[in-house]
Amino acid sequence: MSKPVLINDWHPVAASAALAPGTVLAEKLMDHELAIWRSADGTVSIWEDRCPHRGSRFSIGRIENDGVTCAYHGWRFAADGQCVHLPAQPDFKPSANMKARVYHAKERYGLVWACIGDPASGQTPDLLPFPEYDDANLRKVLCGPYDVGCSGPRIVENFLDMAHFGFVHTGILGDADHTAMRDYKVSEFDDGAGGKGVLATQCFAWQPQTNSLSHGGSDVEYTYRVVRPLTAILTKLPEKQADFREAISLHIQPVTEESSRAWIILAMTNFVQSDDELRDFQDRIFLQDKPILENQVPRRLPLTRDAEIHMGWDRMSVAYRRYLAERGMDYGVIHQSMTA
Ligand code: FES
Ligand SMILES: [Fe+2]
Repeated sequence: MSKPVLINDWHPVAASAALAPGTVLAEKLMDHELAIWRSADGTVSIWEDRCPHRGSRFSIGRIENDGVTCAYHGWRFAADGQCVHLPAQPDFKPSANMKARVYHAKERYGLVWACIGDPASGQTPDLLPFPEYDDANLRKVLCGPYDVGCSGPRIVENFLDMAHFGFVHTGILGDADHTAMRDYKVSEFDDGAGGKGVLATQCFAWQPQTNSLSHGGSDVEYTYRVVRPLTAILTKLPEKQADFREAISLHIQPVTEESSRAWIILAMTNFVQSDDELRDFQDRIFLQDKPILENQVPRRLPLTRDAEIHMGWDRMSVAYRRYLAERGMDYGVIHQSMTA
């Protein structure tokens, strides 16, 4: 059973654009099966994907009259989850316990977000701020989702890691002649709106092709901020593209403890390329990370200090692990010593 740190948090579960009015999708979040549906007026609802009568998945049912009609015996459920009609007994008034389990749902940043606990008692009652998304001067593109056979924290830690660029992203984000890590700073981060964690600044890397517009290589200054256990945002400023700005946010949908979907949002000054071109570049990078992530053992992130070896330039990942441990994170991580 997971502690409130993730249960009461918001997690992405679908792209808004994938959910047309009158349709329903099946998704999974932290081992819970979800039916995500959109009414004719555009409102998104997220329910446990199980009819209380005989357990048929709502996601194979129909959206009708702004409610859900179960595929098995046709019970009709209103938008608040209450059963309102039983075709086999039309005069019967359904009782209050004949109800779907309804979760919290929101839409923002082109994504549908779910909270399966109580967001009011979590650290972020509302969705996280992503100020670069609200910057009208930046163009936004949603990338993914990428299904990865590992825990969410392994993916976030990989996102924070610069030392792999020359090996995993050769010719794009790094190369064999620029593998030495330069020093950078790590501090605490608090955006004052619920996003609290760690910040890495002055992270410099030389990159052959830092984005889909760049040519010829450049030093690039990164910052990284972890704002929730499964959300991190980076910014990139390439020295050779004076007017170029880019923020990339990573949001993990923890499907199970050892499988995840990664969603990435770009907010950047590239207005000349198509969405597909921008996604292709991101896909290329992420699909290089995926086999690495799926071959890290164990799939869950070890939080005991001695479980893996940390070098000085791993200090951002060490700070991330400490941040998770301090919050009592217990989903997709390992607390006990692996050598015990
Ligand atoms: S299982 Fe849903 S109506 Fe019977
Ligand atoms: Fe990578």
